[in-house]
Amino acid sequence: MSSMVDLLDSALYADGPPHETLRALREIGPVHRQVSAGGSEFWAVVGHEASSRVLTEWRTFTSTRGTTLREDDNSAPYPGAGKMPVLTDPPRHTELRRAVARLFTPKAVKQLSVLARQVAGSLLSDLRRRGGGDFVTDVAERFPLAVQAEILGIPPEDIPMMSDATNRALDSAEDEAASGHHDVMMYYLNALGTRRDGPGKDLLGALLDARAGGLPLSDEEIVLTCDNIVVAASQTARHSASGGLLALLERPAVWAALRDGQVGVDSAIEELLRWTAPVTHVMRTAVTDTELAGARIRAGDALAVWTSSANRDRTVFTNPDDLVLDRHPNPHLTLGAGMHFCLGAALVRVMLRALLEDLITADTSLALASPPGWSSTWVVNGLHSLPVTVVPA
Ligand code: HEM
Repeated sequence: MSSMVDLLDSALYADGPPHETLRALREIGPVHRQVSAGGSEFWAVVGHEASSRVLTEWRTFTSTRGTTLREDDNSAPYPGAGKMPVLTDPPRHTELRRAVARLFTPKAVKQLSVLARQVAGSLLSDLRRRGGGDFVTDVAERFPLAVQAEILGIPPEDIPMMSDATNRALDSAEDEAASGHHDVMMYYLNALGTRRDGPGKDLLGALLDARAGGLPLSDEEIVLTCDNIVVAASQTARHSASGGLLALLERPAVWAALRDGQVGVDSAIEELLRWTAPVTHVMRTAVTDTELAGARIRAGDALAVWTSSANRDRTVFTNPDDLVLDRHPNPHLTLGAGMHFCLGAALVRVMLRALLEDLITADTSLALASPPGWSSTWVVNGLHSLPVTVVPA
């Protein structure tokens, strides 16, 4: 089950997710040994059932050694391990997650849905007024932070800086990524210095109020958790929004059916999430020797669940390469599974709904103006540009 394809070759992602390659791998088997050109060694998990096992069986597959593959050595110590929700196992994970979950209660998300509609309306009407533009830079990139800035404690003037830092944090070049995370953490470390006396109702406030094991969180845990949330909050939904719009514009009949109300928005959102899978892979490390779909995994081995592959496994999804907006059920793994299941899941759906409803009900529609540009990276599946023009509905 070793394979000659190097899934960490950025060129594979130049025209979007490498669906053909992943399908070929799935046809051979659900789990493949990979040794990348840079020396990164891991098991690529491409089948849905094996992926679900890796994500849910946290006692066997820990996230404390990293959740994103490295270019060279996956066994090297991972910065932040054990100190931010995504990089902890229970019981610490339960406590850290609880501390931030109160910002994303159904009531809080409902309140944010009002803001999401306003922001979507404003960004899209600006785009229409200009006759079109780049949906990525004019709308998708700005939208998530504009909706979440207040909850994240970022004043409007700091949004561009934060947007840039979180962009870099997901660069596949490790130095660039480290500098992005560093800037996000320094921002919150500085804010922490001025906030001791008045916690407030945002992310820092929630973390300052939190108790884990009866004790306050350390400054390091607070700053790392802020980094976890802010990078996740700003760098993912944008790719589902732009990738989802591209999928619709490339399929006029599907787009028309959605606009005419022949399919519901809720199931359309799930299908667009399945389709776009912005987080290319989710890494875990085996803590004991184990067996996974016939592969003999050794303690210490890294594994990477390839979400866009699991999402197109034909043993689970009928016609997986078709965009079926009323697909049901739709057990995609775009938002993960198990106890690290995306904390922002409800908010993502609310944000995508705000954009879609505005696009559906508008008097005009959008069309591709020129070919889109994919970010050629194995860390996120995403577009860096999507030129659109306004057309009659
Ligand atoms: C389309 C948009 C999004 C996608 C595709 C996405 C994807 C994911 C995935 C795959 C995981 C699991 C990681 C793992 O198991 O190691 C995750 C976890 C997480 N996500 Fe999201 N996410 C999105 C949006 C958001 C937003 C808007 C927030 C804002 C709060 C957020 C916050 C988090 C957090 C805090 C975790 C870690 C949860 C934990 O470890 O318990 N995500 N997300």
